[in-house]
Amino acid sequence: MATLRLGDTAPDFTAVTSEGTLNFYEYLGDGWGILFSHPADFTPVCTTELGTAAKFKDEFAKRNVKMMALSVDGAESHKEWIKDINETQHTEVNFPIVADVERKVSDLYDMIHPNANDTLTVRSVFIIGPDKKIKLTLTYPASTGRNFYELLRVIDSLQLTAHHKVATPANWENGQKVVVSPSIPTAEAKTIFTKGVEEIKPYLRLTPDPTA
Ligand code: BEZ
Repeated sequence: MATLRLGDTAPDFTAVTSEGTLNFYEYLGDGWGILFSHPADFTPVCTTELGTAAKFKDEFAKRNVKMMALSVDGAESHKEWIKDINETQHTEVNFPIVADVERKVSDLYDMIHPNANDTLTVRSVFIIGPDKKIKLTLTYPASTGRNFYELLRVIDSLQLTAHHKVATPANWENGQKVVVSPSIPTAEAKTIFTKGVEEIKPYLRLTPDPTA
């Protein structure tokens, strides 16, 4: 087990899931992926998270992102729990949940933090690019459910900045002004960003979202 850092290759694995045995890379194909872990089945916060993730599936799909969840309970338990999630969250869980009974994937991705809990996975998130590199990691404690609007917002930023020489400022939302990459001189930036470059400081230049 090694800590995974941004830019590292996401480890591939084949695992039993609520939708049968799946290979992670084959499941992701050429698109983006989110792998996120949960402490345990039949727990309240996880139930709301998975229901929310299911409701966001179309938004993720529009961005070519596939989701895969994980907890350390077995596939039969996952299937029973999914019935509860569908019933209580008024949705349909429509992505696989890894049944990581032997903690193989949890170990690969360092999802068990022994000083938080010896056996259960924390709330980890890994966003993986089409090149299978890790683009973002998040770690939340069991007591705090994640914000799926934030995950969408991060995906929007990652996809925008992958193709344009820009970065996204604090609290940025899709369509808002973005920051010109510090490596580009302002004169050059004005030729690249034809919608205009606003120079607030030589190192702080804003431009309209080049894709909007
Ligand atoms: C939950 O998902 O509700 C939860 C799981 C483990 C500990 C605390 C809360």
